[in-house]
Amino acid sequence: MTKETFALKGTIIWSESLTKLSIHENAYLICENGICAGVFPELPDKFAGIPCRDTGNSIIIPGFTDLHLHAPQYSFRSIGMDLELLEWLDTLAFPEESKYADMEYAKKAYSIFAEDLKQSATTRASIFATLHVPATVQLMKLLEETGVHALVGKVNMDRNGAPSLQEKDADTSAAATRQWVEETLTGFQNVKPILTPRFTPSCSDELMKQLGQIQKDYHLPVQSHLSENLGEIAWVKELCPNTSFYGEAYDQFGLFGGEDCPTIMAHCVHCPEEEIELMKKRGVYIAHCSQSNSNLSSGIAPIRRYLEEGLHIGLGSDIAGGTSLSIFRAMSDAIQTSKLRWRLLDDSLKPLTVEEVFYMATAGGGSFFGKVGCFTPGYEFDAVILDDSTLLHPQPLSPKQRLERLIYLSDDRHIKGKYVSGVKLF
Ligand code: GUN
Ligand code: FE
Repeated sequence: MTKETFALKGTIIWSESLTKLSIHENAYLICENGICAGVFPELPDKFAGIPCRDTGNSIIIPGFTDLHLHAPQYSFRSIGMDLELLEWLDTLAFPEESKYADMEYAKKAYSIFAEDLKQSATTRASIFATLHVPATVQLMKLLEETGVHALVGKVNMDRNGAPSLQEKDADTSAAATRQWVEETLTGFQNVKPILTPRFTPSCSDELMKQLGQIQKDYHLPVQSHLSENLGEIAWVKELCPNTSFYGEAYDQFGLFGGEDCPTIMAHCVHCPEEEIELMKKRGVYIAHCSQSNSNLSSGIAPIRRYLEEGLHIGLGSDIAGGTSLSIFRAMSDAIQTSKLRWRLLDDSLKPLTVEEVFYMATAGGGSFFGKVGCFTPGYEFDAVILDDSTLLHPQPLSPKQRLERLIYLSDDRHIKGKYVSGVKLF
């Protein structure tokens, strides 16, 4: 996999802002040593003679960021979806994750996951593994080979797990985490560790305290779950009587955003005002996982409100709470659930638009990874080629209509090419 200077030619679409798509037909998108050099109607003289992949009438978009998913749960996606979160964790997620103590199983399952992620339109992802260090390192190796850029977390859990899925105590969990960080912090090109306390009910105060120290020692990013489900929130209140809202249970240990602690919190379906204020103050990223929130009957997050407040938001598949790895599907689900929320719950928050979900899937979530998610010069060259020529239609369609159709149809068979940071994956 080498980085070169080359052009892609086609119908180029990217998000100029939350509300505006930038659309260029028959245009050239130029990659210079892994970085986007811009979009041009003609090949500029400076780039005369560079290799050009002419995609015909295909659409070229920035790659998607999946801001939240569980790789070990890919094996049981779409199975056992008739439960709410806490029961679902005990009945399905924990028993499945305990299998990753077996490296044979882990290799088999993670190989399937890594290949499917490679073939998807996702170019960046923030991923939960399991509490097992060897299997987590194996996942990182497999992802490194795909060329997708990923943050991967060895999960921490020292309480309320299953007999087969829980670390002995805070010291054991923290020591395993340090060992894993030392082993994986350097040496990978595309994959980096992210600190991953599963959620407050899984982590004792002592463990959170030690993870806060590990975060400071290694300047690691953090990912976890927040205010997903009403039963979960009530449980956190019981477990943390000293806090006045869920987010404080992370914040009191320095694991909730801020200058040196980039943080992703998944879900944020039922956040109280103080929590929203604190996420804003600390620059916490919200991973909106609409499909999971429907499957586990968690609710519908007030995404329009978060956008209006200027919070950072990306989309997550939340495999296997969510059943589909496709971020196209995450986009259409985000729009559709926002329409139900508006009609049934709160008509002050208008439904999300195609422009808004496309922004969240690209530039919104991408910014967690740096200059990622759009075709502005200087951004990393993450691009996906979509060939919709098999979708016959009797009337001419605009590029925006074609993009909207691809989002709502969410059919990965149209994905014909993918580049991450200038490297061609296919
Ligand atoms: N909260 C804690 N663990 C999980 C998980 O695996 N999936 C989801 N959706 N929520 C969680
Ligand atoms: Fe999750």
